[in-house]
Amino acid sequence: MNKPRIVVLAGSRRREALSRRVAVACARALGAAGAEVERIELDDYPAPLYDGDLEAAAGLPEAIVRLQRVLHASDGLLVVNPEYNGSLTPLLKNTLDWCSRPNPADPERSGGKVYVGRVAAVVGSSPGALGGMRVLFHVRDVLGYLGMQVIPQQLAVGRAGEAVGDDERLRDAAQQEMLDTLAGALVDTARRLRA
Ligand SMILES: Cc1cc2nc3c(=O)[nH]c(=O)nc-3n(C[C@H](O)[C@H](O)[C@H](O)COP(=O)(O)O)c2cc1C
Repeated sequence: MNKPRIVVLAGSRRREALSRRVAVACARALGAAGAEVERIELDDYPAPLYDGDLEAAAGLPEAIVRLQRVLHASDGLLVVNPEYNGSLTPLLKNTLDWCSRPNPADPERSGGKVYVGRVAAVVGSSPGALGGMRVLFHVRDVLGYLGMQVIPQQLAVGRAGEAVGDDERLRDAAQQEMLDTLAGALVDTARRLRA
C-alpha cells in the first residue's frame, strides 16, 4: 500500500518562527512512522483577510486554490500551533476559512471536500513553559468542525526555541517519544480511513 500523504504546516509565517522548528521535528517523526510528508509554509500561500465581498468580486485567491489542491491530495494534516492569547493564530484561521470555500471551477477539490474524511493531529509550540497547551483545544474544535477526524494524541512543546536539536528530534526524550506515538497514530489512522 502507498504511504499515506500527510501535510505538515505551522500557523506562523514569521521568519524566525519557533513553530517552524517544531514542524520540522514533526515532519521527521512522520517520515519515520511511514508517511510521505509534505511540509508546507503558509508564506507560500498568501491570502487577504477573508471578506465575502472580495470573494464575490474576485473568487478565491490563486494561492488558496493551490492549497486546496494540496490538501485534497493528502490523507491528513498535522498543524503546529503558536498560541495567540490562548487560541489559534489569525493566519491559520484565515487560511482554513478560505480553503473551506467552494470553488465553482473545481467543486471536487475545494470547500468541505479538502477536509472531510481526513485525519488531523494538533501540536502546540510556545517559548513559554506550557507549550501552547490552551490553543490545542480550540484548534482541535475548529478542525473537527471542518469534518476532520482529529486524533486524541497531542503534544505541547514548551521552550520551543531550544526544544529541537540539530538532528531534528526533540531534545527531551519523553517528548520525542510522545511525538513518535502521535506520528504513528496519525499514519495508522490515515491508512485506515483510506482503506
Ligand atoms: C498576539 C500574541 C498573543 C500571544 N499569546 C500567547 C499565549 O497565549 N500563550 C503563549 O504561550 N504565547 C503567546 N504569545 C507569544 C508567542 O508564543 C510567541 O510570540 C511565539 O514565538 C509565536 O510563534 P512563532 O515563533 O511560531 O511565530 C503571543 C504572541 C502574540 C503576538
